[in-house]
Amino acid sequence: MKKSFSFLLIGILMIGLVAVSGCADSTGETNKVEDVTEEVVPTYVVGTEPYFPPFEYADENNSNDIIGFDVDLINAIAADQGFNVEWKDLEFDALIPALQSGQIDIIVSGMTITEEREGSVDFSDPYINAGLSLAVAADNEDIKSMADIQGKVAVVQQGSTGALKADELKEEGIISEVIYLAHVSDIVMSIQNGRGDFMINDLPVTKSFMVQNPGVIKIVDDQVQSDSYGFAVKTGNTELLDMLNTGLANVQADGTYDQIMETYF
Ligand code: ARG
Repeated sequence: MKKSFSFLLIGILMIGLVAVSGCADSTGETNKVEDVTEEVVPTYVVGTEPYFPPFEYADENNSNDIIGFDVDLINAIAADQGFNVEWKDLEFDALIPALQSGQIDIIVSGMTITEEREGSVDFSDPYINAGLSLAVAADNEDIKSMADIQGKVAVVQQGSTGALKADELKEEGIISEVIYLAHVSDIVMSIQNGRGDFMINDLPVTKSFMVQNPGVIKIVDDQVQSDSYGFAVKTGNTELLDMLNTGLANVQADGTYDQIMETYF
């Protein structure tokens, strides 16, 4: 009787111990999981060609910093979704290859959503409308509209939708030549010095250049093509794409998007 009582007691004690340690274990683990999610904020590498005001460009006061509409927007989305961004400067036509090879995680570069690009990357929901425009040197009296570009020379940013449009015009036998340059500032220079006759570039960017540098170029057609920009991720990266789309919807709903619009437009 005594013996079986002490066995019972030991038994109860053991159950108690297991229960207590089990308890400690599970709370310990829950804490650990919480700590991990609190500490590890993922960092995504964002690729851009940062000579494209007002979307991405060097800060006048600190040329190491990139500012612009795209920058504020992705920062707001990152804050909403709990991730950090690290910027990587690349030429525009190097962005998609860099995404595919895993060198960058997101393209944030005023990139137009096109069917052809959808074949190599996944795009977020569109975040702004920005079509193509045709501009010439301010003193050009020759080209007054798209109707006057027969036999002329186009200058465009390499790898851009402006370049695609110019290629089409060349194939159709309308224009004589297409010059591809890396940056919008080079493009403007080449139509200023007469190397090219006209430029096809994103309307908000051409407009922004004209505001900053009055009297250099003029727009003769502001509706060459209607387009929308999206953020791009590697094909199949739905986790990141969902974060971008949810974050975009959230910052659009809470007024942050409108504030950013006001800052840059
Ligand atoms: N929207 C055009 C495109 O997608 C040009 C974008 C150029 N962007 C830049 N950051 N340079 O082809």
